[in-house]
Amino acid sequence: MNTTQITLNPADTIATINPNIYGHFAEHLGRCIYDGMWVGEDAPIPNIGGFRTDIIEALRRLNPPVIRWPGGCFADDYHWQDGIGPRDQRPRRINIHWGEVVETNHVGTQEFIRFCRLVGAEPYFCGNVGSGTARELRDWVEYCNFPDSGPNGSTWAQQRTTDGSPEPFDVTYWGVGNENWGCGGNFSPEDYCTEFRRYAAFIRGFGKKLFVIACGPSGNDVEWTNRFFHKLYKDYWAFNNIDGFAAHYYCGTAGTATEYTEDEFYRLLEKGLKMEALVIQQRTAMDAWDPGRKIGLIVDEWGTWHPVEKGTNPAFLYQQNTIRDAIVAANTLDIFNRHADKLVMANIAQTINVLQAMILTEGEQMLVTPTGYVYEMYAPHQGATALRARIETPDIHFTKSNIIQTSWQNALQKGETMEGSIPLVSGSVSINGKELFLTVTNSHACEAVEATVDLLGGARIEQGIGQVLTGEIHVHNTFDDPGQVIPQEIDLTCRLDQLNLTLPPTSIAAIRVLLN
Ligand code: AHR
Repeated sequence: MNTTQITLNPADTIATINPNIYGHFAEHLGRCIYDGMWVGEDAPIPNIGGFRTDIIEALRRLNPPVIRWPGGCFADDYHWQDGIGPRDQRPRRINIHWGEVVETNHVGTQEFIRFCRLVGAEPYFCGNVGSGTARELRDWVEYCNFPDSGPNGSTWAQQRTTDGSPEPFDVTYWGVGNENWGCGGNFSPEDYCTEFRRYAAFIRGFGKKLFVIACGPSGNDVEWTNRFFHKLYKDYWAFNNIDGFAAHYYCGTAGTATEYTEDEFYRLLEKGLKMEALVIQQRTAMDAWDPGRKIGLIVDEWGTWHPVEKGTNPAFLYQQNTIRDAIVAANTLDIFNRHADKLVMANIAQTINVLQAMILTEGEQMLVTPTGYVYEMYAPHQGATALRARIETPDIHFTKSNIIQTSWQNALQKGETMEGSIPLVSGSVSINGKELFLTVTNSHACEAVEATVDLLGGARIEQGIGQVLTGEIHVHNTFDDPGQVIPQEIDLTCRLDQLNLTLPPTSIAAIRVLLN
């Protein structure tokens, strides 16, 4: 049987894992918002103030720390004032990016904040640079965050009270545009930087520290990063109203969402693992401009992107989600954990019914996808301290469909990946007080792995429990059978400073170990 050796020392820490790495993204696109989370107060589907009760309950189990909204491409054509005031009087607009459908604006600022509160997440608002104004964004912050001091106070704060919320929303996270190298205005890095600086100059915290996020590159485009920061600091070295810099990386597809060969199964995992080269190369580029590491790296859109499900609107980006997507998610979250000292947020695209969703709905039915279960299983990493771990594992060389010993880790050090090759086992480890939390994937399509975990530094294991998500490489949940892929218990053998477990083929395991 294949074997893998994992060695770690609980004292060998990287950094606290920012819970926001486990963030989500919900855009006015297809059936994410309307006919997704939102059904309206009068719908026969049980809801809380218009939001589906079953979705709220399912999402709460995933513990989403932050949700990015309202886009995406939609954000740079969204005028937030369309989404306030009495719902039946809000203007109807055309969603130019996603099928030219009518946007009713029934879910606006008040509603989305309510949804965030219901699921326990912080909102992250993406402002409109492409077709908006700095004034518009500045006013949105005031509407959300300025205290209402009564008749002599701010008109925007009074409006918020009239709309139902006297208390400020205290929205911390503000994005200045989305994909401004593309759908957000087709800017050059220099031109976007000029816009970013102008917008950021007018955003005020009103007594609260805001977290201001600039648009980063498409994928691992290091040139965008270098040119943006060169412009940012060359013209005005003292500029400091930037807290985050957000890249987007979609690993795409191989085959379709549910139909793929074994080779395509591995190919998609390989494309997903390229996230690590992106993180390494982007953080290296940022370090040159920001050696004190004040600015956090963010990946505020990522995930798989398959051809849409047959018979659905191509502009709605609805796709199924198998155990393959779940392994991509798990590997990516493990990469993020391993870079906890630089990564401050990440947002998988998207929460409901769009791209690599956590939740799919059809009429009254709802299911949690294998990716959704990965988020539930990985939740204990949020806020824990990431540890360095040495994972000695062979590579899967899938063009030959066998396992060989190669130097995947060596290639990675150079910011590369080995084409046609992925590590058999990937993972990450964190510690929270006396609880060690280990997440690992076995990417082999049909072979199990015997994994041994050795603890150095005198740590002693008191007990361990674990869950595993596994199945044949195409397995997924359907509305007829929503329980085909759900976490199950996994057997562990614990000795003083060693843990042994068998990872089934195509599996993701989450292990909690209590130290004494
Ligand atoms: O997530 C779907 C789209 O992908 C977003 O609107 C856009 O930012 C990206 O290109």
